[in-house]
Amino acid sequence: MTPPTTSAPPPPLLPVGRLPLVGHTLALIRHRWDFTTEARGYGPVVGLKIGTRTAYLINDGELVHSLLVRGVTAIERSFLFTQFRNVLNESLITTEGPDHLWRRRALQPVFHRDRIRTYAESVCREAERRCAAWRDGATVRMDREVESYVLDTTCRLLFGPGTPADVPEVLRSSLQTFTLNAVVRAVLPPWAARLPTPWNRRYERGSHAVHSVVSRAVKAAAEASPGSESLLAHILALPAPGGGPALSGRQAHDEAIGLLIAGVETSRMAIAWLLELVARHPDVRTRVEAELDDVLAGRPLTAADLPRLTYARQVVDEALRLYSVWMVTRNATTDLDVAGVRIPAGSTVFFSPYAIHRDPRHFPDPERFDPSRWDPGRRAVARGAYQPFGAGAHRCIGEGLFGMSAVVLLATACSRRRFELPPGHVTRPAISGGIPATGPLPMTLTRRTAHRSADEFPSHEEMSG
Ligand code: HEM
Repeated sequence: MTPPTTSAPPPPLLPVGRLPLVGHTLALIRHRWDFTTEARGYGPVVGLKIGTRTAYLINDGELVHSLLVRGVTAIERSFLFTQFRNVLNESLITTEGPDHLWRRRALQPVFHRDRIRTYAESVCREAERRCAAWRDGATVRMDREVESYVLDTTCRLLFGPGTPADVPEVLRSSLQTFTLNAVVRAVLPPWAARLPTPWNRRYERGSHAVHSVVSRAVKAAAEASPGSESLLAHILALPAPGGGPALSGRQAHDEAIGLLIAGVETSRMAIAWLLELVARHPDVRTRVEAELDDVLAGRPLTAADLPRLTYARQVVDEALRLYSVWMVTRNATTDLDVAGVRIPAGSTVFFSPYAIHRDPRHFPDPERFDPSRWDPGRRAVARGAYQPFGAGAHRCIGEGLFGMSAVVLLATACSRRRFELPPGHVTRPAISGGIPATGPLPMTLTRRTAHRSADEFPSHEEMSG
């Protein structure tokens, strides 16, 4: 073992939730939200026993931010991602170092602000089509509505307008199983994946469905006319230094799967929480409606309206503060001195955006949903206190896509309908890969009467003549 390069003492081990042999593992899995939030009270860095190994939880947003931004050579993706690569091959979500950097630069243009702005026009039309189909007085499963919207909008960006019609539907029934099992496979020994268990059979079915629809979409993108706007067309056209395509069809396929895994679950959970919170807070909804009446004056939303929906954007930011990714992991490549304590090289380092966003030093009364925290003119939050999309080399590439599609759905839904949860409905955060899941959200819809009755709104088609 190499001698430590810092003489700082190790951080204290978290004194609660520890059992013989398993250490903190059970508490971490069973009480994940509360556990990480309470752990913050024990100092900026605490040690956790994961079985016999010690991992480190960094509880302070500023420390996390500096580590992610300044310490790029001192930390790398954790073992989970290396293992993930064995199951999912190479893509932006599994690579590190120069290969990752190359991919990041190659994909960035598709997620650029200007590109997202152009794309927003068709997302507005899609949101309007969906909300117009909601019958007055009907009860819908809002969680499913959101899932379908997110899949449609993500598939369109990835695969283009020519996406085979059944692709989002096939992904709806198989992507979640595929993702969950891919994570489990990444951590289990290879022989366990070969056992004929129901779990493995489900994975095989989900995996087959996801791979075959993505293959069809890659084929369709390869055959699309030059100049097609899809992300896949962009990837397939990337030039290699010596000429020819930089990525093969198979590599483009892996990249698309990585983006679906990274983007769909997170976005759908975040938007489901967003609508849940608005349904529970009539004061917030009233302010959203007032802004919509002011900006839209009864007409349907267009991409050009989005920059003026500043309060709707605050609502999205606040929902994401409360319901963020639970845990991000890294591996220390060298001994680290963090806030005067030593994290040895080779250790797993955790941090929880979910818990960091509940730090009362930065967000007084942190459990309260209060979009006015983000009112213009209020003091800016401290660096690192709010980082739903991470920071540094692996900062989320889909941030702009998410923000746009969340505001579009919120604005369109609120301008057309009021949505309410049944009295007494309790939404408990449930386990999911990233952002906690909402579970079923049955919502009753009532036509909203604004400046003009919602059903009198001219459609996009009528507006464009
Ligand atoms: C609410 C929505 C979303 C949240 C909260 C979110 C959160 C995050 C976070 C925290 C990271 C950093 C992970 C790390 O540091 O290890 C990340 C990375 C990433 N996200 Fe997102 N994400 C969201 C939506 C999306 C969307 C819509 C896409 C694309 C379709 C996407 C694609 C990615 C990719 C590819 C990475 C890895 C980037 C890299 O390593 O260079 N995400 N996301």
